[in-house]
Amino acid sequence: MSETATLSGINFELSEEQKAVRDAARDFAQNVLKPGVIERDREQKFPKEEIKQLGELGFLGMMVSPKYGGGGMDAVSYVLAMEEISKVDASCSVVMSVNNSLVCWGLEEFGNEDQKQKYLVPLAKGEKIGAFCLSEPEAGSDATSQRTTAIDMGDHYLLNGTKNWITNGGTASTYLVMAQTHAEKGHKGINCLIVEKGMPGFVVGAKEDKLGIRGSDTHTLMFQDVKVPKANRIGEDGFGFKFAMKTLAGGRIGIASQALGIASGAFELAVAYSKERKAFGKPISEHQAIAFKLADMATEIEAARLLCLKAAWLKDQHLDYDRASSMAKLFASETAMKTTVEAVQVHGGYGYVKEYHVERLMRDAKITQIYEGTSEVQRIVIGRSVLKEG
Ligand code: CAA
Repeated sequence: MSETATLSGINFELSEEQKAVRDAARDFAQNVLKPGVIERDREQKFPKEEIKQLGELGFLGMMVSPKYGGGGMDAVSYVLAMEEISKVDASCSVVMSVNNSLVCWGLEEFGNEDQKQKYLVPLAKGEKIGAFCLSEPEAGSDATSQRTTAIDMGDHYLLNGTKNWITNGGTASTYLVMAQTHAEKGHKGINCLIVEKGMPGFVVGAKEDKLGIRGSDTHTLMFQDVKVPKANRIGEDGFGFKFAMKTLAGGRIGIASQALGIASGAFELAVAYSKERKAFGKPISEHQAIAFKLADMATEIEAARLLCLKAAWLKDQHLDYDRASSMAKLFASETAMKTTVEAVQVHGGYGYVKEYHVERLMRDAKITQIYEGTSEVQRIVIGRSVLKEG
């Protein structure tokens, strides 16, 4: 079924269920996340209690089938929830995004029944947290250049190597680790292994001291002669790179929605502040210099939102969403950066201090242009797709 054919019946109305998910996420963000967000950012404190509650509310395995302990919700609902959580606390929403899109989705889509029962169920219920381990010191954008090795030893793999910048690196229990088994086959020799915390030889290294999303837990991971049972390989031998790419295509909808939330959170603060703050005898919102900024922000945020929702809708319809998710991520992350810089400007000197929240959102925005594929990687994906069409 072609994308254009299905779009002929276009409908922008959200269902009652989707609105309820959005409202529940908004309440949680405003009432539970907001009070401690400045402190967590300052102290680099992982939102442990908040993530536990998010799991109990069903937000950590939103799209997983109820059969495996998930919420059975659609990807559109996921975008709506991610936006609301990210408006307030992007450190919390990245945990949610990685767990939902990169770990739970990958396991449900490509894992076998035993792997789903053992690993997916507790992750979908939010009882455990997952991490996705692809990046290495010398394999970031160039993800096929995996140096981590998984040598086939018969009934198990021997895993050796280092992974960098791993979100949930210290707090996760279940790690999806990409590693090279057949170097001569290039990306076709890569496997994805499910690694458990506590397996001998698996060491969680230093926590990164980051510019933004400081409440999230980003680590280097080291694997030295870790014995991983063969039963923990996802898919056929050599499926690991395709697994990572397919999983990342969905993950990019999550990060696009995170960027959307950061932008809309900053925008809402800028609007509220501009109505309160007076200069030259009237609220600054009545000065065209500010009103034009707000108009541009609102327009770009709306465009980002539509791209996110379209990518999610395509996923829900089981249509190809690779290009759409990269477009959403590219545009939403650029919008997040631009909008948050402007929101700080609207706030003037107040924007530069922590209690007004916008400086944090500006710092948080930057990572959305980097992780799960830089803006340049998204352009590669989009460019190849456009050229393939001719
Ligand atoms: N679905 C299925 N297969 C795919 C695919 C997709 N979406 N994208 C690529 N592939 C396949 C290709 O078809 C090809 O297979 P064949 O040879 O059988 O045709 C294979 O994968 C290799 O693809 P390319 O030739 O396109 O590979 P490339 O080396 O040119 O790289 C790239 C393409 C888009 C740059 C890719 O390497 C990439 O996405 N890099 C960025 C990686 C990334 O996003 N890292 C983020 C780390 S995770 C993270 O940040 C999580 C976190 O903690 C928040």
